[in-house]
Amino acid sequence: MTLGTAAGKIILFGEHAVVYGRPALAVPLSQLRSSARVETRAQDGIVIHARDLGRDIAVDDAASDDALARLTKLTLGEIGVRANLDITVWSDIPLASGLGSGAAVSTALVRALAAHFHQDLSPAEISALVYETEKLYHGTPSGIDNTVIAYEQPIRFVRDREINPFPIARPFLVAIAHTGISSPTKITVGDVRRGWEADQPRYETLFDEIAGIVEEAQDALARGQNEWLGALMTRNQHALEALGVSCRENEMLIEAGVRAGARGGKLSGGGRGGNVILNVTEEDAPDVNRALLDAGAVSVIVTKVFQT
Ligand code: PMV
Repeated sequence: MTLGTAAGKIILFGEHAVVYGRPALAVPLSQLRSSARVETRAQDGIVIHARDLGRDIAVDDAASDDALARLTKLTLGEIGVRANLDITVWSDIPLASGLGSGAAVSTALVRALAAHFHQDLSPAEISALVYETEKLYHGTPSGIDNTVIAYEQPIRFVRDREINPFPIARPFLVAIAHTGISSPTKITVGDVRRGWEADQPRYETLFDEIAGIVEEAQDALARGQNEWLGALMTRNQHALEALGVSCRENEMLIEAGVRAGARGGKLSGGGRGGNVILNVTEEDAPDVNRALLDAGAVSVIVTKVFQT
């Protein structure tokens, strides 16, 4: 029996623009994890027990777009083995909320399979395998989720060009508040695509603005100038609103958090629901936490972001 786990993630800056070749910064969320357990099976075949979904998936009979079945076949192909297996997956990461639940379950599965067969897969190899399933979940993903989760460190990501750890000189706190609305990334990514097709100059300008914010944020993080992060998050949020991927619930939570003392905030991930993130300090975190719950957040996590 072997176990694999993987962290969730948040995108600090740059979502959506990252699909169009701009940089983005993402960090792993080590306290929220997905897990997979692999055991040898007495009967023939491979069965995946997806505990949170209440589903058992017989890999050989699964539909071709079943992400976990496909990933299992791809991973076993990569390792070069055939076996009868029971695989159980479960996760603490809420689904469809911008915290990377899909990529984390997939990464945990690949790690557990690799460990079961005593194979050492590199983060790049794991990321490439998981990317194949991200395509099933998201349509045309940039690859940022699978990358930050497989590398499990703060990552500056530019699609097809750059995967670089970035320095965080001083740890900082973020409050992550869930709107309670699960919002498939595929939909907002598709809407941005249609907007871009209809008015490329406007969207390209917004993407450039977001890229500028990412550069400023990376610089601030490298210098330990964490007091800039909140304002940069709020600027990024305004650009995301202009892209049409925010919604009233996202904005109400950000406003409530800022009124209670947060330095600024933004939606994180695909948007139109999911989670918002706010930069908070130790002192204001309890007030912000309460204000977010009073404003309708279904859960709030305050977590420290640091160099891993
Ligand atoms: O998976 P999510 O919801 O965290 O969003 C991924 C970020 C997007 O930029 C919106 C899409 C992508 O593929 O990069």
